Amino acid sequence: MNKSIDVFLSHHTDSTKNLVIETAEMIEKLGWTCWYAERDISPLQNYAEKIPDILEKTKLFVLFLNEHSNQSDEVLREIIAVAKNAPILVYNLDNCRPRKSLQYLCSVSQMKPLCDIHTSMLSQHISEEVCALLGDEKAIKALSKAEMLFRPVRSKNDLMFFGEAFERERLSHQHKFILKFAKESYESILKDFENASFLDVGCNTGTQAKLLLEGCNGITKYIGIDREEEALSEGRALYPDSHFFVADCEADDFSNRLKEIKKELGIEAFDVINISMVLLHIQSPEVLLDVLEDHLSDDGIIIALDIDDGFTVAYPDTDGFYRRAVDICHETLYSGFRHSGRQVYSYMYNSGLSNVTLHKIGLSTAGLSRSERGELFDVYFSFILDDLQKMHEIDPENRVIKAELDWFNDCYKLKRVEFKNKDNFFNLGFMLMSARRGD
Ligand SMILES: C[S@@+](CC[C@H](N)C(=O)[O-])C[C@H]1O[C@@H](n2cnc3c(N)ncnc32)[C@H](O)[C@@H]1O
Repeated sequence: MNKSIDVFLSHHTDSTKNLVIETAEMIEKLGWTCWYAERDISPLQNYAEKIPDILEKTKLFVLFLNEHSNQSDEVLREIIAVAKNAPILVYNLDNCRPRKSLQYLCSVSQMKPLCDIHTSMLSQHISEEVCALLGDEKAIKALSKAEMLFRPVRSKNDLMFFGEAFERERLSHQHKFILKFAKESYESILKDFENASFLDVGCNTGTQAKLLLEGCNGITKYIGIDREEEALSEGRALYPDSHFFVADCEADDFSNRLKEIKKELGIEAFDVINISMVLLHIQSPEVLLDVLEDHLSDDGIIIALDIDDGFTVAYPDTDGFYRRAVDICHETLYSGFRHSGRQVYSYMYNSGLSNVTLHKIGLSTAGLSRSERGELFDVYFSFILDDLQKMHEIDPENRVIKAELDWFNDCYKLKRVEFKNKDNFFNLGFMLMSARRGD
């Protein structure tokens, strides 16, 4: 058979069989030819041998994407095979986030969300659109390859945390939630310290630690260090009895900087070292912890508060908003390394620390008031929006980023309202750990 095939329909059999049969019928009624495996391949034919021939003759490849076909290696192989010679059109039936390989192979202009189209209208909608495309050569050519900019790896983060009013406001909401999450544990960790020094690494204005230290009378000397002078100036104005120093904790001479600070303050070592929401932004946390261990007093303690999106749970998540938002958060350029929390435990041991203790994990919406829920939503989700906006400004041509930004903007306000409902459960993966010096 040498006849060309206008449309190849690729899908997951069990979940979308009827939809594909109906769509094929409609496309064929409108005068175009279709091919799909259940009908057009006989049980005796060798699928692996037949498919490359079929795909070579295909004018347009249509993927019915859902959570099942998203995971199918068969579908992936078909796309790889067809990508050289035919445009691809992806109908996202359940708003799932296409896996990386699919994102790489298909551009955003090829991906069409279908969530707001009623199930009974799906086949008609898809077939009409496909036939209109087949009749429009220019539109078909416009379907092209994707670019990716995301990088879910640890990387140096040059983001400034103080300059922007937006980030300052977000941090002030975050303070409240971290206080709720960690206050009791800080009190219990610090209860036996007397006349102790407290080094706050990446302190920003110092406000978070100051709130946590309220009532901890054994801490008598607060020393905040940060690379942002502006944040430190505000800290000096807010807490004149404390000490603030500019320092880059990733710099090669960081250990020397700590020596200078100790000398200036006349102290031998730090009794408590606090590192809160900083390790996720650091390229080599184990190197930093190793340096800090050298400056900790013999019976001192290091407290690390960090985050891990692996512990983020959202229920219900019927349209996949949370799943997709958490995925984006993990991959944007400025939100830090979002699987940082799970690494801290081993990094602490690898840096020669001992007695590593996990005090708390997860802050949930359970028991929060409506307005607190709204604020928690902003703490977690507003910076995803902001990150995407920044990435879009840097790379306006990148359609993956633009599509994620548009999608997020479209959903944001409505999702914020839904999030405030009492029956919505959300758990944010904050983690609080501590470790002592020596073996
Ligand atoms: C998310 S904020 C956390 C601030 C504060 N510790 C808290 O828990 O609210 C991260 C802070 O770490 C600082 N920071 C990031 N990288 C740093 C580095 N390499 N050296 C010093 N400070 C750094 C930032 O300037 C910022 O103030």
